[in-house]
Amino acid sequence: MHIIESLQWRYATKKFDATKKLTSEQIEVLKNAFSLTATSFGLQPIKLVVIENKEIRESLVEHSFNQRQVADASHLLVICIQDDFTTEDIEKYFSLVKDVRQTPDEILNPFKDYLVDTFSSKTKEDMHTSFKNQAYIALGNLLNVCAVEKIDSCPMEGFNPEKYDEVLDLKSHNLKSALILPVGHRAEDDFMKDLKKVRKPLDKSIIEIK
Ligand SMILES: Cc1cc2nc3c(=O)[nH]c(=O)nc-3n(C[C@H](O)[C@H](O)[C@H](O)COP(=O)(O)O)c2cc1C
Repeated sequence: MHIIESLQWRYATKKFDATKKLTSEQIEVLKNAFSLTATSFGLQPIKLVVIENKEIRESLVEHSFNQRQVADASHLLVICIQDDFTTEDIEKYFSLVKDVRQTPDEILNPFKDYLVDTFSSKTKEDMHTSFKNQAYIALGNLLNVCAVEKIDSCPMEGFNPEKYDEVLDLKSHNLKSALILPVGHRAEDDFMKDLKKVRKPLDKSIIEIK
């Protein structure tokens, strides 16, 4: 299917069919797509929590402005950002580059020193803002991959991150929840599923400079 047809097919699913599950192959595709998301300097300061457990998802509904998609979808994806980010994370990244590409230290070290220096002048708040921006890139990537793979999804900011962090014990993983994405299959009676897309005409959302 042409990519634009896939993007037309995708919509923010309001009601999932709670009886339908995604296959483990489909979940693997989403996990790999998340991993292949571009991140600043390749540092991957984001992590994906994949929740299938229905009981946990039911307990999260009240912390999601009672939006049932969280429990009725097949799985709930929680895109998290790293809380503390230190020089050790930069060191680990470069040792991974070295392992994967066998790049010599003489080439890696100047870049590593530059990154250590750059990050040392950032506040925790600066880092969180940057990491959250990267979480949105992962969300966009996952939304498009879902569309191509015919997986229904609903991008969501409508939840209480502090409560999610508590319920999922994210602090113990040095994480904070940033965005959520329930994935699964649309319900036959989702009133949104046959509605036309509402978008400004292209000439109102795009400026072309030739
Ligand atoms: C960052 C972001 C946060 C959103 N949060 C919610 C949400 O909490 N609940 C919801 O039902 N839809 C949410 N949406 C879905 C939007 O309302 C939806 O994408 C928009 O109306 C366009 O419709 P479409 O995606 O079906 O084309 C969110 C979308 C984005 C991109």
